[in-house]
Amino acid sequence: MADVKVPPKHDHTPLIFPEGFLWGSATSSHQVEGNNIHSDWWDWESKSGHEKSGEACDQYNRYEEDFKLIKDLHQNAHRLSIEWARIEPSEGVFDQNEINHYIKTLTSLKSRNIKVMLTLHHFTLPLWVSKKGGWSKRKSAWYFERFVKKIVPELKDYVDFWITINEPEGYVWCAYIGAKWPPQKKSKWLALKTNWNLVRAHKKAYRVIHQIVPHAKVGMAQNVQSYTAYHKHSFREQLGVIISDLSSNHLFYFLSRGTHDFLGLNYYFHYRLKEDGGLIPEVTNVRSYTKEVSDLGWEIFPEGMFDILTDMADGLPIYITECGIATSNDDRRIRFVMQYLQEVYRAIAAGVKVKGFFYWSLLDNFEWADGFDPKFGLIEVDFKTQKRTVRPSAEIYADIAKNNGIRHELMKFLGHRIHVTDVIEIPK
Ligand code: BGC
Repeated sequence: MADVKVPPKHDHTPLIFPEGFLWGSATSSHQVEGNNIHSDWWDWESKSGHEKSGEACDQYNRYEEDFKLIKDLHQNAHRLSIEWARIEPSEGVFDQNEINHYIKTLTSLKSRNIKVMLTLHHFTLPLWVSKKGGWSKRKSAWYFERFVKKIVPELKDYVDFWITINEPEGYVWCAYIGAKWPPQKKSKWLALKTNWNLVRAHKKAYRVIHQIVPHAKVGMAQNVQSYTAYHKHSFREQLGVIISDLSSNHLFYFLSRGTHDFLGLNYYFHYRLKEDGGLIPEVTNVRSYTKEVSDLGWEIFPEGMFDILTDMADGLPIYITECGIATSNDDRRIRFVMQYLQEVYRAIAAGVKVKGFFYWSLLDNFEWADGFDPKFGLIEVDFKTQKRTVRPSAEIYADIAKNNGIRHELMKFLGHRIHVTDVIEIPK
């Protein structure tokens, strides 16, 4: 058992986390920096008629202000990404000014004694890579390796944890299956190839980083999903749960086994699998079935956090590299944070080695194909003036970070909010 005790679920016993736990929040470059003009997303936004990222949060220029806020809010770690498209805007040409910019950025975090978790690839590609077929082409893994070889020696002194690739399978889904992201090519064959090239790219990056920094901590951020059968007695639904779990949560790790120093898990989704009564067994996602959902329609399911943590645990340290809610009601965000953290705590008490939690996101930002509407931020951003306003949820999270857990008074104060479940949407 871990060094924490589990109190009964409904009392106000403080939940103090293991010493050294990382309390942070996460962002990605394209979503917050602004003017990412050499990327495939920038190109796609300008041609597709979708909302444009434009200046985003202008963090490229305002990082000092944002990092000061992180410190004021007692977060001891931060996850962010660098932009390959800025650093290598055309093939084989590296822009030293941009590299220096990231050195300044990371120095600013380190000077505040904030642990840095750095993502090398978070969905966006340099336009030149995408024009050559992007991740669907074998050569892409080699281009990525060359980029990693160039950037790691430059940034190694400022990074505590490396994330090679963010959500490879989420990317494949959005770009090649659901095809709502660039390059919007619906093709199972391209999806398969892309997935495999992302595995290759991760493995290459892992090895390069270890050659340069032997004791580096290297992992990736995997989108893990919690599944349940709608009818417990349904064999087909239960089988669906197992197959979905293996293929979406475990496959990438299996294919790249031996190249992870920790597991990075992004948890957002819970799916209830339901037979549709047809001849061929099919599973239907009824994720919002009378349950509380976020502004994006994603089910609020804190118990899934416990499930995925116990399911994924394989002895390696685990970091929740993303978890958050899109909501325009900050009260719901407070409840979300409390409920999900309770489940993290319970998993730790059950023996899972969870070492840190990164709320998504530090700031309201550019939510990909959904534009600027979804509000994920602990900090509100006025996109006209770029003014930052700290939300109450950020203060609550700061209290938790400062006390390394949820102290008695906070438990008591928030107790009445924790166990309420609103029925927000009842499908017809
Ligand atoms: C991604 C983020 C995204 C968040 C919310 C994660 O899958 O890594 O970039 O903003 O989900 O949709």
